[in-house]
Amino acid sequence: MLLYGLIILSVILNCDAVFYPIKDLNEMINVSPPEDQISFHLYHYTDLSVDDEIIINNETSIESSRFDSELPTKVLIHGWTHGKDILWVREMREAMANTRLWNVIVVHWAPLSHVIYFEARLHTPVVAKQVANMILTLKKFKGTNMSDVHIIGHSMGAQISAYAAFKIREHSNDTVGRITGLDPAAPLYEWPHTESLDEVIDPSDATFVDVIHTNARHLGMVSPSGHVDYYPNGGENQPGCAFWICSHQRAVDYWTSSVKNPELFHAYPYDSWDEYLSENVKKLKSYPMGIAASRSIPEGIYYLEVGNEFRQYLTSVNSIDDSWT
Ligand SMILES: *[C@@H]1O[C@H](CO)[C@@H](O)[C@H](O)[C@H]1NC(C)=O
Ligand SMILES: *[C@@H]1O[C@H](CO)[C@@H](O)[C@H](O)[C@H]1NC(C)=O
Ligand SMILES: *[C@@H]1O[C@H](CO)[C@@H](O)[C@H](O)[C@H]1NC(C)=O
Repeated sequence: MLLYGLIILSVILNCDAVFYPIKDLNEMINVSPPEDQISFHLYHYTDLSVDDEIIINNETSIESSRFDSELPTKVLIHGWTHGKDILWVREMREAMANTRLWNVIVVHWAPLSHVIYFEARLHTPVVAKQVANMILTLKKFKGTNMSDVHIIGHSMGAQISAYAAFKIREHSNDTVGRITGLDPAAPLYEWPHTESLDEVIDPSDATFVDVIHTNARHLGMVSPSGHVDYYPNGGENQPGCAFWICSHQRAVDYWTSSVKNPELFHAYPYDSWDEYLSENVKKLKSYPMGIAASRSIPEGIYYLEVGNEFRQYLTSVNSIDDSWT
């Protein structure tokens, strides 16, 4: 019952879920197999208004795209009720593509994500499988080294990232370089316990796994699940947010603002938020949160305070309920 209540509340609070009709799973399956409803879109700074579709096992689609085999590759995965053109995905992909440092590929699984939470959850293994196939297609035709692949996922997308990396290892014994979990989804992953731990983000999924927790204990996981776990403002609720969904979204805002300014966030190793608050943090060495994080950061949990400083880097902060507070 708690789960139902939570999901209904989330739907009410999440305008995207209201804007997209909730589709009937059987109706969708009769239309086409789920695999056909997952697509991959490369964005390039030369023209961000058009994308190049990357098609699994299709060399022409890669050769005719602006994919640059000299650059590392970043793969972005949205979560439940979202899609490639939702505001935060647009803002993130544009910020990342504009650095010109990486190939930026967005995973679009929107038809499968616009169903009730339970059904979306059931679709995640096939999404992960296709993400793995897409990345292995880059390896096959472009020689992409798996250590140069970084998958960034929000909410359910964070769990899909982990399972995709697991599938790549299963297929080719290759380990993905990095996974970033942006408030990885808790419902049907952390609680109640999921049967398959392979589907839940953990440090074995990539050479470096970093996780930003912004709605821990609620929509996001509370357990440390990477090599490095960040709990901004204690990790449960974010300033200016009246509702869980707002805090849950805030992880993507922190990420995108760190792409614009890699030195924006300074996190400190502490055992708890209370301990962080009670001590003079200036005595300690700080470590970056966001894009600048790396395997060189000592493993553990990190705390930091985040106020409004990140907002100047974003055209719009994705928290519809801010105005209600
Ligand atoms: C491969 O991709 C190209 C576009 O990039 C498309 O024209 C072609 O039909 C695709 N081939 C197959 C077999 O899907
Ligand atoms: C991939 O990159 C890693 C790290 O740079 C390197 O050790 C490894 O040999 C590379 N693998 C291949 C197949 O080139
Ligand atoms: C897989 O890789 C690990 C280390 O990278 C190696 O020890 C192991 O032998 C490999 N297994 C196979 C089946 O290639």
